[in-house]
Amino acid sequence: MVTARAPATSANLGSGFDTFGVALERPADVVTVERADETSIDVTGAGAQYIPEDPEGNTVGAVAEALDAPAHISIDKGVRPASGLGSSASSAAAAAVALNELYERGYSREGLVPVAAKGEAVVSGDAHADNVAPSLLGGFTVVRGDEVTRIDADVPLVACLPEVAVSTRDARRVVPDSISMDDHVETVGNAAALTAGMCRSDPTLVGAGMDDPVVTPARADLITGYESVREIAFEAGATGVTVSGAGPSLLAVCHPEKCRAVAGAMVEAFADAGVGARAYQTRVG
Ligand code: HSE
Repeated sequence: MVTARAPATSANLGSGFDTFGVALERPADVVTVERADETSIDVTGAGAQYIPEDPEGNTVGAVAEALDAPAHISIDKGVRPASGLGSSASSAAAAAVALNELYERGYSREGLVPVAAKGEAVVSGDAHADNVAPSLLGGFTVVRGDEVTRIDADVPLVACLPEVAVSTRDARRVVPDSISMDDHVETVGNAAALTAGMCRSDPTLVGAGMDDPVVTPARADLITGYESVREIAFEAGATGVTVSGAGPSLLAVCHPEKCRAVAGAMVEAFADAGVGARAYQTRVG
């Protein structure tokens, strides 16, 4: 029997759609695997009732198949599904690590990124790796084709999770097919600033680089209260606020002394919009 833990993640960070991701210190999924003739899955924990236990419909079933590693797989969910915090990626990453060890497949953590990304395809229709990469490797990650670059960063974050669900498939449908040259130039500048900010662990530069004129505005309408929560988080001291992954969670960057105020202000602003929410004060993990 092997057990592995893989953390929640936040993808995109505004300007890095399908490219940037960060591991969060918490929450996390824990996956335990035992050899079996056929794969079977049981799920407990946050939002377990919404997760299929059929291996064909579950992210970890695809991982077991990709590693030719049939097992009984127990998933203890710490990361609520459809939250924008990389829930399916956490399960896929933890399963990939545990099954790789159980069957002594010999993959490195980097080598497990495309394996775990196969699990993402089951959930969202696309094998994008921007959540599984930081969940497996930690830190801030940049996915470029098959290549992943990892940067150690120490940046305080607030992840605010409202009690509404947004499906990744729906959130991907509203992404525009093309962008203007002006938006392209702005996005490249922001993404470059954000990467430099991560290298320097500079919350001001990271926050400024999270601005995104393309994908985030297209998704804002899917999240009740988005505009007011964002505005109030800035007033409380956030240096940047954006949709976390496909939403509905929002991710704020702040200087350490402001995190508590930002977290409280975001929860209160969601409440004013009629939506219950909880906030995690965390860091790039
Ligand atoms: N990059 C993905 C998206 C993350 O924004 O759709 C969600 O899984």
